[in-house]
Amino acid sequence: MVELARNTLHTSVTDPVAASMNFLNEIAERFPAAISLAAGRPFDEFYDVADVERYLAAYVAHLRAGAMSEARVRQSVLQYGRTNGQLGAMIARMLEIDEGIRVLAESIMVTSGCQEAMIIALRGLAAGPEDVVLAADPGYVGFTGAARVLGVPVVPVPETAHGLEPAAVARVAREVRAGGRRPRALYVVSNFANPSGVSLSEQARRGLLKVAADEDLLILEDDPYGLFGSDDRHRPALKSLDTDQRVIYLGSFAKSVFPGARVGFLAADQVVVAADGHRRLLADELSTVKSMVTVNTSPIAQAVIGGVLISCGYSLRAANQEKIAFYRRNLAALLAALGRHFTGPAVSWNTPGGGFFAVLRVPVRADEQLLEVSARDYGVLWTPMSFFYAGGGGSHAIRLSCSALEPGQIEEGVGRLAALIADTRA
Ligand SMILES: Cc1ncc(COP(=O)(O)O)c(C=O)c1O
Repeated sequence: MVELARNTLHTSVTDPVAASMNFLNEIAERFPAAISLAAGRPFDEFYDVADVERYLAAYVAHLRAGAMSEARVRQSVLQYGRTNGQLGAMIARMLEIDEGIRVLAESIMVTSGCQEAMIIALRGLAAGPEDVVLAADPGYVGFTGAARVLGVPVVPVPETAHGLEPAAVARVAREVRAGGRRPRALYVVSNFANPSGVSLSEQARRGLLKVAADEDLLILEDDPYGLFGSDDRHRPALKSLDTDQRVIYLGSFAKSVFPGARVGFLAADQVVVAADGHRRLLADELSTVKSMVTVNTSPIAQAVIGGVLISCGYSLRAANQEKIAFYRRNLAALLAALGRHFTGPAVSWNTPGGGFFAVLRVPVRADEQLLEVSARDYGVLWTPMSFFYAGGGGSHAIRLSCSALEPGQIEEGVGRLAALIADTRA
């Protein structure tokens, strides 16, 4: 029998972040009755298997209404498809209606989740060993993990309570350059970030675009939670303010439709100039990478998402009113429960303007051992913030998620957490 030494495999296989996430999944399996303030997935009860059939039928009816032959309809759903996908025009329309983002359909690449969009963008942009990407610290593990798989170094930019500060991005970009490396792009979650819940102020959005121009950076903007603000305030996407094609927008339908479709996209309207002067959109250039990663995104899954877009008049904001109200109520329930259960000065938390997450700062080490005790003896799960820091940090902080629970469970879960913290301190 062939045996492989673990240390002969690529470092991404033994990635500490992946190990942390495995630990979390494993503990959730061992204590299935525990209330999970760790799970950041959308609320299950919004989904119905019958929707898949309905939306698929809506998409097929749309193709037929456009006088497409039956053979072409069949091919569109069941054959290999165009590498960059078939929803470019629909997604471009949705981006304009919901976000005020104006891009050509040709600048859209439909991907297998936002995750693949990150991988393709990273692979295309990081050309040599000197290329690095900047990202907020703490940050989204899907992005740092993708970079690790590809061997692209991520340089952390410390995030403040008010989000990424443009001056900090500029400073880190200059330090990187001074060290002989090239800061190629900045990855940023503009609204209600995972894990911190913080958002960029409008001033910071404009500031980041200026820094990107000054420091010659591209921005990878990821906004899966933007629809789920606690109020209706307009929070302009960086891409909607981008007059200079500095921003590559990474899109996900995981929260706005359902994660099981595994459909996302990127909007890359940058012009790429070849040595012979030939000009193409970056989305087109990147299609070579896409074709070698997943050939094309499942046309069946695209058809379902297409059906959703047709059915909602290309406004996911309109389609998501019930979910928006639900997640608003849950975040309010979480913050209210924290206020009720943690009354002393020793514990504090932030107040995100929306999204699925908040951060609790506690006077005890919030590590894997405490999580084990929490799950076993108190019946509540949460995520140590230390899992999300590249440069070390978050030892006394907890990410709380409120997306997958009912308000009553949130109240009970926070009560259990308060008991854990009080007993651990004592
Ligand atoms: C910051 C961020 N980006 C993207 C995603 C979703 O990616 P995908 O569309 O691959 O499910 C998530 C989901 O957890 C996320 O938190």
